[in-house]
Amino acid sequence: MHTQVAIIGAGPAGLALAHVLHQHGIASVVLEHRDRAYVEGRVRAGVLEQGTVDLLHELGVGERLRREGLVHHGFYLQFEGERHRIDMHELTGGSAITVYGQQEVVKDLIATRLEQGEPILFEVADVTLHGLDGDRPRVRFRHGDEARELTCDYIAGCDGFHGVCRPSIPAGALTVYQKIYPFAWLGILAQAAPASAELIYAYHERGFALQSMRSPTVSRLYLQCPLDDQIAQWSDDRIWSELHARLDLADGPPLNDGPIIERGITAFRSFVVEPMQYGRLFLAGDAAHTVPPTGAKGMNLAIADVRVLGAALAAHYHAGRNDLLAAYSATCLRRVWRAEHFSWYMTSMLHRFGEDDGGFQHQLQLSQLRYTVGSRAAATSIAENYTGIVRV
Ligand code: APR
Ligand code: PHB
Repeated sequence: MHTQVAIIGAGPAGLALAHVLHQHGIASVVLEHRDRAYVEGRVRAGVLEQGTVDLLHELGVGERLRREGLVHHGFYLQFEGERHRIDMHELTGGSAITVYGQQEVVKDLIATRLEQGEPILFEVADVTLHGLDGDRPRVRFRHGDEARELTCDYIAGCDGFHGVCRPSIPAGALTVYQKIYPFAWLGILAQAAPASAELIYAYHERGFALQSMRSPTVSRLYLQCPLDDQIAQWSDDRIWSELHARLDLADGPPLNDGPIIERGITAFRSFVVEPMQYGRLFLAGDAAHTVPPTGAKGMNLAIADVRVLGAALAAHYHAGRNDLLAAYSATCLRRVWRAEHFSWYMTSMLHRFGEDDGGFQHQLQLSQLRYTVGSRAAATSIAENYTGIVRV
């Protein structure tokens, strides 16, 4: 089997890249370890920057997004028992975000790809990469009972943080930057109308909490919890009582409870490798970098990488230019590091770190929060980072 670009991983990065390449008339094969139902059912983040929404429309996969996506012009920061609105739209001169689940994006990308008759192989196993520093790289894998080999011009490593592509690069060729945080998020989906139509990021003495949503009848809620907590330690009653304690205001409507339809614990990690390329292998999305979810940047970064990589491959195939491919890593890393900083900053401002410092850090966090909601300059900074900086 031969193709122009072998894409490893059918998450947002791999699938969106397959579509960008298809639009440019470039052939690709997507190889995915899991089955289709698993990939489509995996609940992840849900905040899309305008640039992400724009790309999905350009790819012709934005029809359901247009109907079901919830456009938000503001969000709330809550602390010391009060809720303060950050008016992103007004502060940035017209930017907004759209709330639409990552797995809905994945479903839309898969459905359209299959309608086009373009290949995605699900449930491939034992993927290995060969000849990355030559001009005819190969991907070997198992599909069903068959051992297969795919030759190609380029490999796109879109297989997430735990994938095989990044570890296929000789260790000495990469610089790794990483930071681990001393807590995790417990996330739930609940059949309950969100009490607030806009997201609420709450800093509370019991820990961080976030109210988000997926639709007018489904809430997405998160709680900061200890790193080593197991989901079995959290009964429904305990989850709801903790969410109420951290998110309800004395003088407002409480959160609406409802049946919990999905739950999980997510660890926090800031991670970047440089460069995002080795020979004919280009890394995109979580394979190259991860951010803690507090800034809502993970999927947006994955899509931004793919836009750059798609344009660079199109320049190679259609104009014989290799300068954009050569610049791929450096171009992406400017945006990646801005998002790394913003995600670290939001995480640092909004979580309890449990430090034995007599409350020093807590006072700094409160001061930063008061400044952020009280100063137009500080509020503008958070709003433009949150909605997505166009020029990084
Ligand atoms: N072979 C084939 N596929 C693999 C392999 C492998 N060895 N390892 C992992 N995969 C697949 C995973 O099953 C998954 O479907 O690669 C895909 C990677 O997708 P994501 O983890 O969603 O990563 P990405 O497309 O970069 O999207 C980033 O996802 O993790 C969130 O917060 C992150 O929102 C961000 C987004
Ligand atoms: C979500 O809706 O899942 C979500 C929203 C904002 C975040 C993280 C996750 O910062």
